[in-house]
Amino acid sequence: MNRPITLESVSASRFPFSPYPRGWYRIAGSRDLKLGKILVAKICGRDLVVTRSKDGVAHVYDGYCPHLGASLVIGGSFSAEGIQCPFHGWKFDMDGRCIAIPSCPSVPEDAAGLKPWHVRELNNVILGWYCPSGEAPRWEVDPLPESQDRDWSPFRHGKTFAVRSHVQEFMENAVDVAHFACLHRTTTSSIKGGKLRIDGPSLHYEALQVFSLGLIGRWFGISKDVELQIRTLGLGFVCIYANKPGESLPETLVMAYPVPVDENRIKVSTYYSSRKQSVLTPLVEILSLVVGQLTFNQDIPIWENKQYRPYPRLSPADGPILQFRRWAQQFY
Ligand code: FES
Ligand SMILES: [Fe+2]
Repeated sequence: MNRPITLESVSASRFPFSPYPRGWYRIAGSRDLKLGKILVAKICGRDLVVTRSKDGVAHVYDGYCPHLGASLVIGGSFSAEGIQCPFHGWKFDMDGRCIAIPSCPSVPEDAAGLKPWHVRELNNVILGWYCPSGEAPRWEVDPLPESQDRDWSPFRHGKTFAVRSHVQEFMENAVDVAHFACLHRTTTSSIKGGKLRIDGPSLHYEALQVFSLGLIGRWFGISKDVELQIRTLGLGFVCIYANKPGESLPETLVMAYPVPVDENRIKVSTYYSSRKQSVLTPLVEILSLVVGQLTFNQDIPIWENKQYRPYPRLSPADGPILQFRRWAQQFY
């Protein structure tokens, strides 16, 4: 029987892998979750509730009531005491415990609480572990040394982009060096890939970029060789170190956290920092922000409209795309 083609079936088949690979994903920015505050998020097709309890610890819970499954995000009420379900009014505190059931004089000992996620808070973000089969985290996340180094500026949240794509497609961009001198020619004259190293869930890639500001830069011969160190952890984090220590321009660090929102959309949050080594640092930070946003705006229409090629016709100019894809298989 011919199955009618719906919009969902077209979009669900856009990629030959699950929209929700296993891994750590950014759930919220640390600064957005003040003490006693509740946030909501949508990650991997689920509604989540994010709280910070009195002890300062961040918690992430499935945003569905353990009683009969009502969404706490749609219609639930949030206060300094906690969360109240809109359906029968059960109340939960910031630690996810059930603290009141209407018309019940006391809460039964075994009353179910909210379902917690594994959470880590570091590098100014709150991360949650997603695994489709509910397994515990398979790898740890460590703070970046720069986040605790006074010589580096505090990690600053740049922008969050919503894109109709997949986290793997976003991450593949990090090793796709050949697209820079074409799509990103306003900022890059050329880029050459270097060593690739794979270490379990992380991938390290080196590249040399000739940075220039478009035609004006080229006309006046203004360009700068920039060494890039690209590091990923799973499909939910990539950071790029630019410039070598001790160079005239300060080292900068650009971080991006792609997150699957639902089957068709991802959200990417960016963060920036740079070494406070000269008067040029604030200028370089602004430049990183502007260049980062410009670059994303150039990438977005490509990501949103491209077809995934499982067997791409690559050329010697391409980066290690197939190695990247083999590495990415471990997250499914
Ligand atoms: S479903 Fe939440 S209180 Fe009943
Ligand atoms: Fe790009």
